[in-house]
Formats: sequence, C-alpha cells, structure tokens
Amino acid sequence: MKDNIILIGYMGSGKTSLGKKLSYKERIALLDTDRMIEQKQGMTVSEIFEKQGEGAFRIMETECLKEILGYTEKYVISVGGGLPIKEENRKLLKELGTVVYLRAKPDTIYARLKNDTSRPLLRGDDPRGKIEDMIGKRGPVYELAADCIIDVDEKGCEVIIGEILEALKLDLRVK
Ligand code: S3P
Repeated sequence: MKDNIILIGYMGSGKTSLGKKLSYKERIALLDTDRMIEQKQGMTVSEIFEKQGEGAFRIMETECLKEILGYTEKYVISVGGGLPIKEENRKLLKELGTVVYLRAKPDTIYARLKNDTSRPLLRGDDPRGKIEDMIGKRGPVYELAADCIIDVDEKGCEVIIGEILEALKLDLRVK
C-alpha cells in the first residue's frame, strides 16, 4: 500500500483548497484528479460532461487513479466528488494511501456553491434539494471509502488541517 494522502468529499467540501494548503504545509506535491483529466483532455470538466457525457468522465477518473498508482513519489491527492462512488475506484483509493473524508452538511455546501457555475451536476432547478439528496446517498459511500472522517462545518482551514494531520499520525488505515 502506498502512503499518499487522499482527500474525498462532496463538491465544495474543501478538497481543493485544503489539498493546496496541506501540500504546502507538509511539502508534499499535490495532485488533483479533475485538473489531471482536464489537462489530458484539453477541456474543462463541464465541457467533458457536455461533449462526452458523464459516463466517459467516470472512465477517465478510473484511468487517472491507475496512472497515479504507477507514480513513485508521495502526494496529497484531491479527487472529484463523484470518484469514490464507483467500487473499483474505492479499491484503487485504498491502494493509494490514507483516505480522508471531508464531511460537510448540505447547508455548508449550498452556502459555498450557490453562485458557482463550474459544477455540471448542480445546474438546473433546486440545487439545494439536489445537494441534500446527493449527500444523503453519497455520504454512506464516502464513509465506506474513508480511513478517517473530518467534519468541516464552521471550522477554519488551519483547524481542519490540524485535525487531518492528527488523524494521519494515528495511522487509521485498515491494513
Ligand atoms: C463531481 C465533482 C466535481 C467534478 C465533476 C463531478 C461529482 O469535482 O469531478 O463535476 O460527481 O461530485 P469537485 O468535487 O472537485 O467539485
């Protein structure tokens, strides 16, 4: 098993921003699966959803994890919100390192994303309802994928980073 630090959670839970801060603080390089896919495809995630469909994007996510598995350095890896939903991906995540679930309540997510247009899955009517519904369904799956869970609501970045580092010190991985 590898020793990467993997951040999972719903859109807007802070994976990208916390990943950047954690990477800087610990001097560990950062990978972001959405950005890797965008670079490879030469398109944004929204454009991939529009032109190739969600199914194609989900295949790209699995390919991306397989590619990272071949890397030899240690990374902080921030993954797309839907990536852990596929069982194959959860297995790959376990092989890649310690999985940290950044758990956020629907209200927190809605407040952060209500003016965001970059998430194709939240377009259309009733984004608040969609968030609640998806978190209800995905939450248990994120918990299944996680080695540790960090509640992020109403906490500042420094506090969350501190909690992540504490959890990592305890090495909560199921071996
Ligand atoms: C998705 C989350 C997004 C991105 C895509 C699908 C999801 O990533 O991968 O829009 O299914 O939750 P972020 O969680 O980084 O926003």
